Amino acid sequence: MTQDELKQAVARAAIDIITPKLAKDSVIGVGTGSTANHFIDMLADLKARFDGAVASSEATAERLKKHGIPVYDLNSVSSLEFYIDGADEANDHLELIKGGGAALTREKIVAAVAKTFICIADESKRVDLLGAFPLPVEVIPMARSHVARQIVKLGGDPVYREGVVTDNGNVILDVHNLTINNAIELERDLNQVVGVVTNGLFAHRPADILLLGTQNGVETVD
Ligand code: 5RP
Repeated sequence: MTQDELKQAVARAAIDIITPKLAKDSVIGVGTGSTANHFIDMLADLKARFDGAVASSEATAERLKKHGIPVYDLNSVSSLEFYIDGADEANDHLELIKGGGAALTREKIVAAVAKTFICIADESKRVDLLGAFPLPVEVIPMARSHVARQIVKLGGDPVYREGVVTDNGNVILDVHNLTINNAIELERDLNQVVGVVTNGLFAHRPADILLLGTQNGVETVD
């Protein structure tokens, strides 16, 4: 199977998990990226069976709306049963690196609200040690140089993602060459740098279920 077919397979597996749990008043959190897009396209077939969705990016909101799925502001929703999203890296503790699509902050917010976070990814995203994928950090624009200097002190090599402005009007620094032995600690330390909005480590709130698309079928890690 191609990488895209593996992404489709995990999106289908997530649909299979949530379908029996859907109710007329269910609102679902939906992530961003090519794997999440497959999930959205499959979710459209079920739209009569749930109320709507909360989107983790403007791109996802647009795709949901195109399918006729109502999109709610997170502030108008009291709970989310599920959040379904992809990842750039995932380890066996279900800690993730996310933000390749620059949507990390809204993704982290929606994941924080959801009762169950189902991460869907093809097998290329599975790692023993997080950090080969450069860690995205969303930064308030005026703090970019300050944050970059602090990241160097923490042992990383920050690279400004040229031409990218997040949905929140901020910029992204991609941090190379980090050895992430303790993802919870690094997530906290980076978030304490003034000017950082958040970073792409999902360790304090890891996924609850990881669906990995492999050549031998979809593997569930939980
Ligand atoms: C976007 C993300 C995505 O989930 C991540 O980049 C994976 O994307 P894809 O499903 O296209 O491989 O974190 O900010």
